[in-house]
Amino acid sequence: MSGKKVFIKTYGCQMNVYDSERMAEALAASGYEATGEADDADLVVLNTCHIREKATEKIYSELGRYKKRKAERPDFRIAVAGCVAQAEGEEIVRRQPLVDVVVGPQAYHRLPELLRRGGVQTNTDFPVNDKFAELPERAAGNRSVSSFLTVQEGCDKFCTFCVVPYTRGAETSRPVTQVESEALRLVGRGAREIVLLGQNVNAYHGTGPDGECWSLARLIRALARIEGLQRIRFTTSHPRDMSADLIEALGSCHKLMPYLHLPAQSGSDKILKAMNRRHTAEDYLRVIGRIRKARPDILISGDFIVGFPGETDADFADTLELVRKVHYGQAYSFRYSPRPGTPAAERPQVSPETAAERLDELQSLLRSQQREVQWRMVGRTVPVLFEKPGRRPGQLVGKSEYLHSVHCSAADELIGESVPVRIIRAEPNSLLGELA
Ligand code: SAH
Ligand code: SF4
Ligand code: F3S
Repeated sequence: MSGKKVFIKTYGCQMNVYDSERMAEALAASGYEATGEADDADLVVLNTCHIREKATEKIYSELGRYKKRKAERPDFRIAVAGCVAQAEGEEIVRRQPLVDVVVGPQAYHRLPELLRRGGVQTNTDFPVNDKFAELPERAAGNRSVSSFLTVQEGCDKFCTFCVVPYTRGAETSRPVTQVESEALRLVGRGAREIVLLGQNVNAYHGTGPDGECWSLARLIRALARIEGLQRIRFTTSHPRDMSADLIEALGSCHKLMPYLHLPAQSGSDKILKAMNRRHTAEDYLRVIGRIRKARPDILISGDFIVGFPGETDADFADTLELVRKVHYGQAYSFRYSPRPGTPAAERPQVSPETAAERLDELQSLLRSQQREVQWRMVGRTVPVLFEKPGRRPGQLVGKSEYLHSVHCSAADELIGESVPVRIIRAEPNSLLGELA
């Protein structure tokens, strides 16, 4: 054991959160202890996101912070992992020579080896070898009530604004038995909820133990049989892959939570076409209709982009109309950010002022819908799965089935338990409840 400490900073989506956990475990196996303090670290890993320009630029300003330490301590190491690593490769070291290692999302199982070899290493290829087969098994410690589990990676959809198909590569699904054994280990170390992750998780098509190709719905039904596992969620889904069996599972599988993140991006057919989403606003609404028929209480969440090249006031009005029709319980909205190498970046851009105004308008509509959904929770008694200590002493925080954060006075022994809670107040980003 070298007794070294690693600080991992995670940017971007849940997939990166999962990857950071796996990197921490891989590094622990070669003697690096995780620390929450950047100042203590012998190794800093930035697990980066390339989705919007801001996310990428953050990395370079963060790297600059370590200049002094690098000068004082030649053994101090910096690794850049994740989607910026994949997209920019060697360029990162050219722009910031402080960086020792650059490692892409499909190669991070090699991180300990890259660090040992020393010097500047870029390994951002997609190895044929499955990284999951090479990573150490999930460590026993690290109890967390809700755990992420990546089941599908990459994307073949090529939306014209998006870097993911380039940073994460082609769509691949992990085999069913590999997913099942990881789920069992997670439940064995205390997980009560598992969130299945994929850039297009509902396109999951892993090989089953029977040699057949399993859908996400079939995988979920198999995982639902794990004793001790109380809740299953999945994210992110694409409207085109909302198959009949998955919709049916949302209605009938009681461990599958009534929450669905289904990005629409825009409500204008012209813009959806230019984005290469390959569905219309009407198609999206029809899917939502079928889902709500199967699971009437489901909370719908979405993603939107405003100011996509060519978006007119009328196109934006179509987006607002779609939002009014769906009524979202949760949503994320972004100003379009042109990304190098993507087709939309080459098109005439909407002015930043117009895009900013549209974003404000959309966000205030989404906020009001979100609040309304939260207010409707007040007075109801709902199961809350407690995850950890809350803001105030004596409080725990957990999640409703609809993914609301719920704060409640309760004893620590209830962590990991699903308990009926009466909701007494809605706060801007959470709910307040009392044990029923
Ligand atoms: N796989 C998911 C989303 C992945 S990226 C899907 O297909 O929906 C997460 C979100 O970031 C997207 O839903 C989109 O709303 C936003 N996004 C992606 N690229 C963007 C860009 N160039 N500019 C602004 N937002 C973007
Ligand atoms: Fe990006 Fe589109 Fe793939 Fe989602 S479906 S990851 S938005 S290319
Ligand atoms: Fe960002 Fe990569 Fe996720 S670009 S959103 S970290 S897949």
